[in-house]
Amino acid sequence: MALDKPYQDIPGTIIFDAEQARKGYHLNQFSMSFMKPENRERYLADREAYVNEWPLTDAQKKAVLDMDLNAMMAEGGNIYFLSKIGATHGLSFQQMAGSMTGMSEAAYRDMMVSGGRRPEGVRLKDLDGWTPPEPGEKAETMRPNAPARVTSTLYTPHVPAIGAAMDLGKTEEPYWQKVFSGYEWTRAWAKENTPDVVILVYNDHATAFDSSLIPTFVLGTGAEYPVADEGYGPRPVPGIKGYPELASHIAQSVIQDDFDLTLVNEMVVDHGLTVPLSLVFGDVGVDGEWPCRVIPLAVNVVQYPVPSGRRCYELGKAIRRALDKWDGPELNVQVWSTGGMSHQLQGPRAGLINAEWDNAFLDHLIADPEGLTEWPHLEYVDEAGSEGIELVDWLIARGTMDDQFGGGAPTVDHRFYHVPASNTAVGHMVLSNPTD
Ligand SMILES: [Fe+2]
Repeated sequence: MALDKPYQDIPGTIIFDAEQARKGYHLNQFSMSFMKPENRERYLADREAYVNEWPLTDAQKKAVLDMDLNAMMAEGGNIYFLSKIGATHGLSFQQMAGSMTGMSEAAYRDMMVSGGRRPEGVRLKDLDGWTPPEPGEKAETMRPNAPARVTSTLYTPHVPAIGAAMDLGKTEEPYWQKVFSGYEWTRAWAKENTPDVVILVYNDHATAFDSSLIPTFVLGTGAEYPVADEGYGPRPVPGIKGYPELASHIAQSVIQDDFDLTLVNEMVVDHGLTVPLSLVFGDVGVDGEWPCRVIPLAVNVVQYPVPSGRRCYELGKAIRRALDKWDGPELNVQVWSTGGMSHQLQGPRAGLINAEWDNAFLDHLIADPEGLTEWPHLEYVDEAGSEGIELVDWLIARGTMDDQFGGGAPTVDHRFYHVPASNTAVGHMVLSNPTD
């Protein structure tokens, strides 16, 4: 079930994919540092000292000090990043490319002037015994006994005031007690069913991404994510530990499944991600640790156009296909979709709540997710408020479940609805796949 990477066999070629990018992350960031003249000067003055300032592996350091571009590529470097090192040494792109061929500089230049290297003999199709790969198929059935098992999906709002109520010790106040009563079951359940990793779908609220960058789907492939300061100071909760190996595996599979994800190795995470963790795992002090790793998946629902419910559902299915292809350690995976339910935070219609619509949404999410994908944006915004559009995210988790791949229907382990938490209707649900 390994990922489809036929490009790895092309002679004399290293394709820079998500796995290579993970391996070469610090080497490539090191290379980028040479876009500043002061760094170029310091490097040329004492190369070893400069290299030692970076968290490179010994093999990466040696490759840089030897100025061995092939070795740098093997250690995860990408030529566009590495060219900054070459430029610092005064090399042209032709000199850099030629240095990797084993030819003299003059012979390489002459070859290029004569029309370049001919493809015959250096193509996959010219290798003995090579057969073209089968065209890729999008699996519609699940992999039996997959090592990475989606056990449950969870749905919850991520209202910032809920986090503030916990952080300020207000959870016993009658107003908040009603909200938190809906999570007592979940907290007990989470203790017995702690996942190895949560894929946590949320939206960034003008925190990590501002108007300079508006990515639609952002997958976190980094090792850790600090808690953001959203203007009130950072929440007193631990930062998040990612799962780069699994996240880059998902990226590779999902992008080949026709989803153009944005991959992020460094970002801060806001209440959209930390409040659900607090709701489910309870108080964890700033010096503590969350009980599992988290792969953030941020969906743009701040600036239109936002993705459709159908697109989100299909992304969920693509994520499940990726998980089914995982051949690493056995993993208990939960997928959490967060946001909503009905709320409007702006304009004269602020405060809109639509309990009937919210509950119909929950009914359809349980029993008819495909039908739910037909609901247009206008339906969400008109009925559930301008910020109620966050609910499209819930279709991502639902798309990962067994019954969407020919398996059994999920059990509804927990369902809760309450108005309000601050400006928002609290809908919360846990669905589990059959355990067979
Ligand atoms: Fe939100």
